[in-house]
Amino acid sequence: MRADISRSIYAGLTVMLVASISTEANADRAYGEYLAGECATCHNPSGVGSEGIPSIVNLPEDRFAQALKEYRTKVRPNPVMQNIAGRLGDKEIAALASYYASLAPATQGRKP
Ligand code: HEC
Repeated sequence: MRADISRSIYAGLTVMLVASISTEANADRAYGEYLAGECATCHNPSGVGSEGIPSIVNLPEDRFAQALKEYRTKVRPNPVMQNIAGRLGDKEIAALASYYASLAPATQGRKP
């Protein structure tokens, strides 16, 4: 009886832990989607680039975040992206990276 109770407590805790981790990722993604409104002007809502604008959907999350941080610290030279990245904190960059990484491959290569 005692063992049953502690087993179900452990099971409950595990479910809660998993749920809280995935909720956090979803919250990040939703925030990223909200922030992405600004990026869509140039990178398109799908994140697929066009004339002179690179695609930003097919980058791994860490490369995406790295690129924005390099614009922010002006390691990368583009003034437009330096200006945009200069206004983003680490939390915003992580949220944007998570959102763009989540865009379905089906939207890649297709204009919005
Ligand atoms: C005014 C147009 C414009 C807007 C708005 C804009 N970008 Fe860009 N972005 C560019 C251009 C142009 C480049 C290519 C710059 C270069 O040559 O380094 C670029 C490059 C990038 C890259 C690097 C891609 C690579 O392959 O290295 C990332 C990542 C990126 N943008 C993310 C974003 C995000 C996220 C936002 C919104 C917060 C955003 N951009 C808003 C024009 C824009």
